Amino acid sequence: MRGRLLRAVLLGLACAAPAPALPADPPESSLQVLHWWTSASERRAAKVLATRLGEEGIEWKDNAVPGGAGLGAGKVLKSRVLAGDSPGATQIIGVSVGEWAELGLLRGFDSVAVAGNWNRVLFPTVYSLVQHDGHVVAAPLGIHRINTLFYNRKLFARLQLPPPANWSEFEQAARKLRAAGITPLVQSSEPWQVATLFENLVLAESGPEYYRQLFVRLNPQAAADKRLLQALTHLRTMKGWMQLPLEEQSWTDAVRRFARRDGAMLVMGDWAKAELNEWGYATDDEFSCAPMPGTAKLHLYSVDTLAMLGAEGSRMAAQEKLAKLVVTPAVQQQFNAAKGAVPVRRDADPSGMDSCARDSWTTFASGAAVQAPSLVHRMAADEQSRDAIIAEVHRYFMNDNVTEADVQRRLAAVLRALNSRRRN
Ligand code: GAL
Repeated sequence: MRGRLLRAVLLGLACAAPAPALPADPPESSLQVLHWWTSASERRAAKVLATRLGEEGIEWKDNAVPGGAGLGAGKVLKSRVLAGDSPGATQIIGVSVGEWAELGLLRGFDSVAVAGNWNRVLFPTVYSLVQHDGHVVAAPLGIHRINTLFYNRKLFARLQLPPPANWSEFEQAARKLRAAGITPLVQSSEPWQVATLFENLVLAESGPEYYRQLFVRLNPQAAADKRLLQALTHLRTMKGWMQLPLEEQSWTDAVRRFARRDGAMLVMGDWAKAELNEWGYATDDEFSCAPMPGTAKLHLYSVDTLAMLGAEGSRMAAQEKLAKLVVTPAVQQQFNAAKGAVPVRRDADPSGMDSCARDSWTTFASGAAVQAPSLVHRMAADEQSRDAIIAEVHRYFMNDNVTEADVQRRLAAVLRALNSRRRN
C-alpha cells in the first residue's frame, strides 16, 4: 500500500506540467551523487570516480548514506525526490532501475552508450540491466560475486583443511574447526546477511534454473520443492557453526571479526575482500576466497549501477560525462580493484586481477547459463518481493521453533500474493 502511494505521488511529480520556458541555465559544474559506499574500501572506490570526474571539470558532491545493501540510501532517495530535490546521480541497482525508469524519473543516455559501443563491450547481462524499454538509463560500475566464501588460509593450512568444495566438505571443515576450539563461521544476524546465506544455499542445492523459478518468477509451486527444504535445513545447520548469542552487526563489523580470527569462515559478497585489503590483510596471505561450496562454476551476481535524475538541462552535460567515464577501461580497472568487484567489460584483462577477482570475472564471462541474480541485492525481484522473502527467512533463522514446513507454507502464500499483485 505504502509502495503504491509513493508510486502515485512520484508519478504525479514526473507528470507535472512543464514550467514555462525560461532562459537556459548555464551547465552545472558539480554533480551530487547519492550512494551507500561508506566503508573504507568503498570510500576509496568512490574517490576513484570523484577524482576522474574532477579531471573532467565536474566536482563530485558526495552524498553517502550509511546502511549495508542500500537500506538507508533507498529511503533518502525517495524522500529527496518527493521533496523536489533529487540528486544528479544515484546508485540504484537491479530491478529498482526499471521501477524508477517506469516512473519517468531517469534520464536516458542512449547517445553515450552508442558512442561507447556498450552493446558490444558490456556483458549481455549487464547491458540488459542498464536498459529500460530499449533505452539506456543507468551506467554500470562493476560486478560483485555474492557466492564467495572467505576462509582463514593460515588456520586452514594448520589444520590441513582444503577449502570446502561441497556441502559434505563444508560440514567436515566445520566439525574439524570446532574440535580445534575454533568457531567455524562468522556471520551477522542482520536480515539481508542471513538472506545472503540462504540465496547461496538455494543456488548450491539447485542451480540457476530452480533459483530463477523461486526468486525471479516467484513461482508458488517452487516453495514446496525438496531443494528449498534442504536449503533451509542447511541454513539452520550453519547457524550452529556461529558464535552465540547471534549479533545483528553491519557487514563491516562481521568482516572485522573474521579478520580478528573470531571465526574461520565468512560468506559475504566480494566487497569484503576489498575491506580486508584496505586493513592490510592481503589476498592469499592471511585469507583466501573460494566459491560458496557447491557453486564453483556458478556466479551469484550483483551489478552496481548509477542512474541520472532530474529534468534540468543544465545537469545533462555533467551526467553524461559521469556515465561515459565509468565505463572506460581505465576507470573500470581502478574502481573495481578498489571495490573488490570485477569489470563489466568483456575486454577486461583477467591476468592482472587477484585470484578471487580472476575466478569471478572468468566465471561470469562464461555466460548467462551460469549466472544467478542476487535476490538480496535487488537483481532478481522488486523491493517488496525481496523484503517479504527476506522476512520469512529471517524469522526461521532467528526462531528455532519455526519449522521448515512452516516456512515453505508461508513462502508459498507470499509468492501467490506477490504474483496476483503482479497480474493486477
Ligand atoms: C551491495 C552493493 C555493494 C556493496 C554492498 C554492501 O548492494 O552492490 O556495492 O556496497 O551492497 O553494502
